[in-house]
Amino acid sequence: MAWAESFFWDGGVKNLESLSFAALSSPDEMGVDLEELCLGLNQDKTYTSAFKQAFDVDSISSAYISRALAQYMRTLVSYDSRYDSVQLGLSQFSDRQLHGHNVFVKNCASCHPPPLFTDNGFHHNGISQKYTAHHLYLTTGRFRITRDSIDLGKYKTPSLRNLSRTAPYMHDGRFEDLDEVLNHYQNLDLKNQNQDILVTHIEFSDVDKNALKAFLKTLEGGTID
Ligand code: HEC
Repeated sequence: MAWAESFFWDGGVKNLESLSFAALSSPDEMGVDLEELCLGLNQDKTYTSAFKQAFDVDSISSAYISRALAQYMRTLVSYDSRYDSVQLGLSQFSDRQLHGHNVFVKNCASCHPPPLFTDNGFHHNGISQKYTAHHLYLTTGRFRITRDSIDLGKYKTPSLRNLSRTAPYMHDGRFEDLDEVLNHYQNLDLKNQNQDILVTHIEFSDVDKNALKAFLKTLEGGTID
């Protein structure tokens, strides 16, 4: 099943243009008043002339700020990883990376398929859903948007590119490093979790785990400046 592209762990935003509004105004993030932001930027000649040049407008509105940020985010493309160069036939995996790739294809690729290593879908990957009453809202996941109980505890599958730069892991940052993540997945039985048809059982040995880590490292790439 294919999902339309969406952003945030619960997929609450459907396009890059509207994404910035949440980040700018949320009290947990920048906590900015959009009107004040526009007032400030409109008093700064550097910005007014840059927006004039980019959008041919005399006054900066929050819609243009969001469009400008979206265009910037579109330039943040990761490429050039070992994985990409193997795909292009320019280099080869080591034996250990190849073994890790096989373990990955068998156990992980159903939810984390290439090229972005996410299916853009929402799943319950078996992490414990026990929270204190204070943090109970963290159990809702995709349910917050769909209000369908099947989506309770499901979160957007994150990309696995550049993992060395995205710790801590999971929607609540509960895992500090990849060892903790892989320990979670090792011998995981998803049967009793909020049923996910893509996978019921994940099982790999410690040798497989080290190979898997070596494979995940091949997804580290540069960005286009
Ligand atoms: C059933 C679908 C599914 C399978 C199978 C699966 N994952 Fe995930 N993975 C997810 C989801 C969903 C999340 C986010 C969960 C959350 O935050 O609550 C996630 C999170 C992660 C993260 C954290 C990334 C970050 O930026 O926070 C890593 C690393 C990861 N998975 C690796 C793997 C590996 C390695 C395997 C195979 C052993 C695997 N996954 C199998 C769905 C899956």
